[in-house]
Amino acid sequence: MNEIAPRPNNLDAFWMPYTANRAFKGAPRMLARAEGMSYYTNDNQEVLDGTAGLWCCNAGHGRREIVEAIQKQAAVMDFAPTFQLGHPIAFQAAAKVAEHTPAGLDRIFFTNSGSESADTALKIALAYQRARGQAQRVRLVGRERGYHGVGFGGISVGGIGPNRKQFGAQLPYVDHLPHTHLPAQNAFSRGQPEHGAHMADALENLVALHGDTIAAVIVEPLAGSTGVLVPPVGYLQRLRELCDKHGILLIFDEVITGFGRIGTFFGSERVGVTPDILTMAKGLTNAAVPMGAVAVHDKVYRQIVDDAPAGIELFHGYTYSGHPLAAAAAIAAIDLHVSEDLAGRARAMEDYFADGAHSLRDLPNVIDIRNMGLVSGIELQGRAGKPTDRAVRIFHRCFDEGLLIRTTGDIIALSPPLIIEKHHVDRIFGTLADAIRAEAA
Ligand SMILES: Cc1ncc(COP(=O)(O)O)c(C=O)c1O
Repeated sequence: MNEIAPRPNNLDAFWMPYTANRAFKGAPRMLARAEGMSYYTNDNQEVLDGTAGLWCCNAGHGRREIVEAIQKQAAVMDFAPTFQLGHPIAFQAAAKVAEHTPAGLDRIFFTNSGSESADTALKIALAYQRARGQAQRVRLVGRERGYHGVGFGGISVGGIGPNRKQFGAQLPYVDHLPHTHLPAQNAFSRGQPEHGAHMADALENLVALHGDTIAAVIVEPLAGSTGVLVPPVGYLQRLRELCDKHGILLIFDEVITGFGRIGTFFGSERVGVTPDILTMAKGLTNAAVPMGAVAVHDKVYRQIVDDAPAGIELFHGYTYSGHPLAAAAAIAAIDLHVSEDLAGRARAMEDYFADGAHSLRDLPNVIDIRNMGLVSGIELQGRAGKPTDRAVRIFHRCFDEGLLIRTTGDIIALSPPLIIEKHHVDRIFGTLADAIRAEAA
């Protein structure tokens, strides 16, 4: 057992991300240690991880294979640049990732996060259009309620109002598709909802408006951060067809759906649609070291690289692109995914998990339940005049009863590690049901 971290006595300096800092620092809840399916607090109370950290520790916590790979690499070489130099493990990690990306998407650009992956994908799409003589294609299309991280590219194509409103101007030349949430037809769907493929046709309207100026469309195959929106049957196929018809690149942001989360290695396999560019992060290293990546179709890579004048072909990169420790963690994490067939485990547990989620249907204030793979969203009726209050209180109740959940607005999102067993599923939905009942008023 690892030693428990000491409790910090000064909480002022750390400006916490996406956190109500004043509320947190008035009543801090700390995680000090993690192992397998659980976190442990400073007081050594177990907290079952219903969210794989932040949708990222898909293989469970503290995996020895990943820890040892990082330790070994740190002793061999801590860092080396990948600008005009190489180191073997970065190439090995890229080749390992490319073994699992959809056919053709075998050129891997390393980043450090999902946000950087989104911005990198957008820049590659623009560079591609320019390289093929379509420099007028400067427009990027996202989707309402989409989340693509916090860079200026990501928040511009993203479709979540609060992430944008403090920051003034965004990227120019951006438009959005409508979201696919159709509760009147699809509430309480199990798996992919039946209605909504036609929502992709809105891309025709944008093409009618903007002509041949659209470079790329970016969507999450399953939108996670907005509160779990599962793609309607046929929607992504339709989007693919329309992108092909109009010379537009299709980018899938698989930062959440990658690495087994919806029952296949990448989500694109599960939904049966191959994008031109695919972003990933989180589960790539099992979150043990920050790393993201963008898998790019060979035709896109070749268009940008092959005919470029001698010299650097793409003026983009991060000091830590392909960082040795992250590369080591990625290789070890992917090996675990393969040896333990984590995607297969997710698929095998999907029905049981869905049963647990949908068992909450008749509880007070539950207005929708959505699921796919090992993801579930439980939408609650918010308290009148107090949006988010009910969900936040349920979050605190669950934590104090030893369960970590995630909330977005009044939606509860669950995404446990893929090593979850049935008794964990029972505990998640039992604890959550009690908390929802306790906040009925
Ligand atoms: C789909 C998607 N894209 C991008 C990101 C941003 O990733 P990061 O927080 O690593 O920058 C997230 C994070 O949740 C995400 O869900």
